[in-house]
Amino acid sequence: MSQTFEPQILNHPLIQHKISLMRKKETGSKDFRELASEVATLMCYEATRDLPLKEVTVETPICRCKTKMIAGRKLAIVPILRAGLGMVDGMLTLIPAAKVGHIGLYRDEETAKPIEYFCKLPCDISEREVIVVDPMLATGGSAIALADTIKRTEEIIKKHGAANIKFMCIIAAPEGLAAFGKVHPDVKVYVGVLDEKLNDRNYIVPGLGDAGDRIFGTK
Ligand code: PRP
Ligand code: URA
Repeated sequence: MSQTFEPQILNHPLIQHKISLMRKKETGSKDFRELASEVATLMCYEATRDLPLKEVTVETPICRCKTKMIAGRKLAIVPILRAGLGMVDGMLTLIPAAKVGHIGLYRDEETAKPIEYFCKLPCDISEREVIVVDPMLATGGSAIALADTIKRTEEIIKKHGAANIKFMCIIAAPEGLAAFGKVHPDVKVYVGVLDEKLNDRNYIVPGLGDAGDRIFGTK
């Protein structure tokens, strides 16, 4: 059965406000990093909305009561290096027990194709719900390669089989979303804001420039 790809564009006022500050070219690395982290926290709240709950009994100062706590699968956060690192602390603020894997990908300047240079994932990744984070989804090449790697790793580990991956990005281009949805329609995608298009260098318009350089101050 074919799956419908329905990315969630969050468009929350706080998210939009903070992304607007990130877009400004005069926003320096310190503020940019803080904003990326804050946006990640806000987005994490939405991306964890469907976590399963179980009923537990607790004793309040008043009486015993039945109440709810998170049940089921444990979580893993996987940032795409480098820029995804800027979202990890913001995620851990809400889900401190999550494990963190890393995948290093950079875009070849000429072809915009992703090149993988590092991969270290939690050994029990197939038992976890995986939230992949990267501020930018441009052509979609990096996100597609990363979801491929995680699914391949899960097949190799061969525990639970079915991949349970979500992808969270702060800004997406329509071209990248469409490309991602064609290859991985089963992955739930959460987008802070959807921008207009890509330019002829495959940068998002209006976007915010190179997220990695702005987080780490490398340009
Ligand atoms: C950026 C960004 C994404 C990728 C998006 O990383 O953080 O990973 O580009 O582009 P795509 O959708 O066309 O693949 P970059 O390659 O600049 O590496 P960096 O994070 O190390 O700066
Ligand atoms: N990567 C970035 O950091 N920014 C873009 O606009 C596109 C890819």
